Amino acid sequence: MAAKNVIGLDIGTSSIKLAQLKETKKGTQLVNFDSIMLPPDTIRDGQVMHAPQLSERIQEIFSLNKVRHKKVAVSLSGHSVIIKKISLPEMTVEELEDSIQWEAEQYIPFDIKDVFVDAEIINPNAGQGQMDVLLVAAKKAIIEEMLDVVRDARVDPQVVDVDAFALYNAFELNYPVPVEETVALINVGAATININVVADGLSSFTRDITVGGNQLTEEISKQFAVPWEEAEHMKTSSETTLSMSGVLREVQRISERVSENLVSEIQRSLDFFAATSMNANISSVYLSGGAALQSGLIDGLERRLGAEVRALNPFNNLIIDPKKFDLASLQRTAPVAAIAVGLARRGLGDR
Ligand SMILES: Nc1ncnc2c1ncn2[C@@H]1O[C@H](COP(=O)(O)OP(=O)(O)OP(=O)(O)O)[C@@H](O)[C@H]1O
Ligand SMILES: [Mg+2]
Repeated sequence: MAAKNVIGLDIGTSSIKLAQLKETKKGTQLVNFDSIMLPPDTIRDGQVMHAPQLSERIQEIFSLNKVRHKKVAVSLSGHSVIIKKISLPEMTVEELEDSIQWEAEQYIPFDIKDVFVDAEIINPNAGQGQMDVLLVAAKKAIIEEMLDVVRDARVDPQVVDVDAFALYNAFELNYPVPVEETVALINVGAATININVVADGLSSFTRDITVGGNQLTEEISKQFAVPWEEAEHMKTSSETTLSMSGVLREVQRISERVSENLVSEIQRSLDFFAATSMNANISSVYLSGGAALQSGLIDGLERRLGAEVRALNPFNNLIIDPKKFDLASLQRTAPVAAIAVGLARRGLGDR
């Protein structure tokens, strides 16, 4: 579905990100990017706990950046979405649209009445009269809740996407997609890890794991007996402020231990992918999300997966006006921007 000029609005557990792109003769330009923190517990376990507060923050990010355009693309992740590759007899797009609700029933563990279903043909001739279809189902209640929050902020949601697909769009916008290689895109947020394995240029496995950087915040908060905000500050503040006290070393030690845990979770998903796929050999990993900065994560992944792990920079291929943006601080926030940039890409035309 094309939706011209939508702004990417990534509503995360720890912060909201806004990204706006524009197609120019020279390439894709970054028009706007910003993120603002959410008070802890605004969203918990993927549920909006304080809807008015969240709407207020959404309004704020638009007004702070003087963004008057109000059409947005938002996204879902976690347990509220199910993505499956299924095999169906060859049929036209129209036939698929007519039958998918009925076909989907056997693949969805929820009552089909409670979900929105979408499907896309990813391989029209998979052999023996079959085609490969990507089935996406999302709980209606969760979508409605999100749409209400967004509309209460006087913003018009035009597109509801899925984090893992937005991640792919951010990647494709900024890097040449390898055609004969398998790469894993991994976004590690505060509460969710989104995985999208791209084989031969196609998104061939997606998975959300409901853990993330919050695990480390929790652990620091427990070990040092400090409130959540302080723990959050301790893990993200610059090394110099902490190194005086030896606290830094302790934070790093905890971080490395917690990261091992995240690495194991990621490895488990990738092992599952490997067991069910022919393009199992992942040659490189592109990592994004705020918690990608967590000490021990990149090294741990590299060691355990035996693949090259690098940062996914969602601004890599964008035209950026140095008069409008502070380039150094933009590069610092690059890891958290991936999903928002991927969503904003939906505004550039037919995606
Ligand atoms: N320098 C850093 N070191 C360690 N962790 C960091 C750093 N910077 C940010 N983080 C962590 O990254 C997480 C936020 O990342 P991100 O903004 O991608 O998540 P989110 O989109 O808000 O959450 P989710 O997508 O899981 O709902 C937080 O847990 C935060 O503490
Ligand atoms: Mg996120």
